[in-house]
Amino acid sequence: MIEAHDLTKRYGDTTAVDRLSFTVRPGRVTGFLGPNGAGKSTTMRLILGLDSPSSGTVTVGGRRYRELAAPLRAVGSLLDAKGVHGGRSAHQHLAGLAASNRIPRRRVDAVLELVGLPPATARERVGGFSLGMGQRLGIAAALLGDPEVLILDEPVNGLDTEGIRWIRDLMKSLAADGRTVFLSSHLMSEMELTADHLIVIGRGRLLADTTTRDFIETNSRAHTLVRCPEPEKLRGLLEVTGATVRLDALGGWRVEGPDAATIGDLAREHGLAIHELTPVHASLEDVYTAMAQDSGEYRTAGRTQQETVR
Ligand SMILES: Nc1ncnc2c1ncn2[C@@H]1O[C@H](COP(=O)(O)OP(=O)(O)O)[C@@H](O)[C@H]1O
Ligand SMILES: [Mg+2]
Repeated sequence: MIEAHDLTKRYGDTTAVDRLSFTVRPGRVTGFLGPNGAGKSTTMRLILGLDSPSSGTVTVGGRRYRELAAPLRAVGSLLDAKGVHGGRSAHQHLAGLAASNRIPRRRVDAVLELVGLPPATARERVGGFSLGMGQRLGIAAALLGDPEVLILDEPVNGLDTEGIRWIRDLMKSLAADGRTVFLSSHLMSEMELTADHLIVIGRGRLLADTTTRDFIETNSRAHTLVRCPEPEKLRGLLEVTGATVRLDALGGWRVEGPDAATIGDLAREHGLAIHELTPVHASLEDVYTAMAQDSGEYRTAGRTQQETVR
C-alpha cells in the first residue's frame, strides 16, 4: 500500500500539495485525477523520495522510499519517459538498470516482450524513438524489477488510441495480478475507463477518494431526455410523481428522478406516445468540472470560480 498522511509540499509561496492523506491499495487501478497544476507530479515525486515533504509522511509498504532495501524491485515508476540517454539502445538502458539493481538479466527480454518492443527495435538508439516507443520503454523499465507497486505519471499523454488502449489493458492486468497500480491523469474520460478507484485533487487538496462508480453516481446529475407529441400532458403526469421536468435546449423534456423505464411505463398507462427516451449519464469529466466549480478549486483563466463569483 501507498499511504500518505498530512502530506504537504511548499515551494516558496506555492503550496503544491496541501495536507493530503490517502491510501492506495493493491488489486485495483487507482487513478490520481486533477487538472494541470493540481499537485499530482509533486505527490508522486514525494512518494518516490525525489523530493522531501515540507511536513507529513508518505510510505510504500510501511516504509519511506529511501528506506527500501531494493527500491526497483519494490516500486516501479515512470515519471518522465524522456529521461533516457538518447545515445543508448533500449536494451542497453534496461541491461544497465538490471545490473545496478541486481535484477536477473533475463528480465530485460521479458519486459521488452511484455511492452511490445521487438528485439531489432530494442537495439536501436533511443534518440530515434517515437513518443509511443519511448513510453513503452519507460514502462518496461518500471516493470523490470517485477515490483508489487507501480506509479505512473500521465502514462497516456501524447499516445495514439492504440497506445492508450494498450496501457489501459496492461494496467488492468497488473492490478488483477494483485499489484498496486497508481496512475495520474488530467484526462477524465481516460480515467473513467481505466481506474477502479479515484483519488481526486484540486490545488493540492483532496476532493474525493472513492470508487469511480460511486464518484460518478454520487455527483452526476443523471437525467432522461424525453420527446412526446403531447408534452404538457406528460409533464403533468411526471410532476405528480415528484419528477423534475425542464425544457431541454432541443425542445424535449429533461427529466430528473424516475428512470427511462418508469417514464415509458407511465406514458403507456396513460396512452401517450413517446418519440424519444434517452438516459443521459454524466461523464467523469462533467462530474469533475461540476465538483471543482462547487468547491472553488477549479481554475478558470488563473482565477478560481469563487474569485470569479466575488
Ligand atoms: N520544483 C518546483 N518548484 C516550484 N514550484 C513547483 C515545482 N514543482 C511543482 N511546482 C508547482 O506546484 C504546483 C503543482 O505542480 P505539479 O505537481 O506539477 O501538478 P500536476 O502534476 O498536477 O500538473 C504547480 O503550481 C507548480 O507550478
Ligand atoms: Mg504533472
